[in-house]
Amino acid sequence: MSISNVIASYNELSKLDLRVLRVIEVLHRNHEYVPVKRIVNYMGLSEEVIDKSISKMNKLKLLVRRGPDNVRLTFPAYDILSIHTMVKKGVIDAIAPTPLGVGKESDVYAADAPNGEKYALKFHRIGRVSFRNTRKYRVWIGERRHVTWLYEAKISAHMEYLALTEAYKAKVPAPRPRAVTRHLVAMEYVNGVELFRVKLSNPEDVLEQIISAIEDLLRINIIHGDLNEYNILVNPSDEKITIIDWPQWMYANVKGSRVILMRDLNIILRHFKSNYGLNVGIDAVMSRLAPLIPNSELPPEKAYSRLIKRVTSLVK
Ligand SMILES: Nc1ncnc2c1ncn2[C@@H]1O[C@H](COP(=O)(O)OP(=O)(O)OP(=O)(O)O)[C@@H](O)[C@H]1O
Ligand SMILES: [Mg+2]
Repeated sequence: MSISNVIASYNELSKLDLRVLRVIEVLHRNHEYVPVKRIVNYMGLSEEVIDKSISKMNKLKLLVRRGPDNVRLTFPAYDILSIHTMVKKGVIDAIAPTPLGVGKESDVYAADAPNGEKYALKFHRIGRVSFRNTRKYRVWIGERRHVTWLYEAKISAHMEYLALTEAYKAKVPAPRPRAVTRHLVAMEYVNGVELFRVKLSNPEDVLEQIISAIEDLLRINIIHGDLNEYNILVNPSDEKITIIDWPQWMYANVKGSRVILMRDLNIILRHFKSNYGLNVGIDAVMSRLAPLIPNSELPPEKAYSRLIKRVTSLVK
C-alpha cells in the first residue's frame, strides 16, 4: 500500500477505530490472531459497535480476518498507529507522497514538522539486528514469537534510533535523531546524494571523512556493520558525508566484530579504488585503527545482555 493510501485510510478512521487498532496491538502480545471477543471485553463496548469498526478496517486492508472471529493488524495499520503518535506528539504534520527510498527492509519518506523542519521518516519492515542469530535473540522474541514481524520491526527501529543517538552525540556524521515510535524512526532530513551516484571532486577527502568517522565510532565501541556506497550520503555542495542506515550496528568488543569492521572497510576501499583509482590498502587502514580496536572479545550473550534488556523494555 502506498503512503498516500495509508494516509487516506488514516483520514477515514474515527477515534473509536484508532482505539480498536491500539487494543488489537496490545492483544497481539498474546495472540497471533486476536479473538474479537477479547476486543469487545477489553473495550467494554457492544459487539455490534466493534464489529462495524472491524469490518470497515478490514475493507481498508488495515485488518486481516481469520474466520469470522479473529483478526490481526497489517503493516499499513501499524504505519497508521505510528504516524498518529508522531502527529499527536507534534513531531510531524505532513508526509510527502513520493518515497525517498523503498527497499525490502524499509520505506523512507520526507515529512514536514510543525516547527518548519524537514525530517526523514523510516518505516522499518523487518528486523535486521546484528545479534539476531545469537542464542539470546530467542529471549527477545520470547512469548511474542506469534507476531514476530511486528516485534522485529519495532526492535529494528529502536536499535537504529539508539545508534543514531550515540553516533550523533559523538559527532559522527549521522542524521540527528528526532523521535522513535513502534517501527518508525524520525530523523533529520539530509540533503545529500548516495555515494554511488556522485562523481566526487575530492575523493581523498571523502574517504578520509569516512575513515575518521569509523575511528570516532570505535571510540564509542560501535561498528556500523552495513557501510557501503548506498548508505553514505554526500552533500553535493561541500562533499560532507552523512552515514545512514544503522539498525545492524554492533559493539566493537564483541566476538566476530573485527570481521564485520574489515568487511565494511573493504567495501568502501573497493569503491574508491574502482571509481577513483585510489589505492589505499586495508592493512594500512587497519593499523591506523588498531589502537582503537578493543582487545577484549566478549561473547555476544555477554556483550549485549544490558542492551537487550534496555531495548526490550523500550518496545514492550
Ligand atoms: N535521513 C535521511 N535523509 C535523506 N534521505 C534519507 C535519509 N535516510 C534514508 N534516506 C534515503 O532512503 C534510502 C533508504 O534508507 P536506508 O538506507 O536507511 O534504508 P534501507 O534499510 O537501506 O532500505 P533497504 O531496504 O533498501 O535496504 C536511502 O538510500 C536514502 O536515499
Ligand atoms: Mg540502505
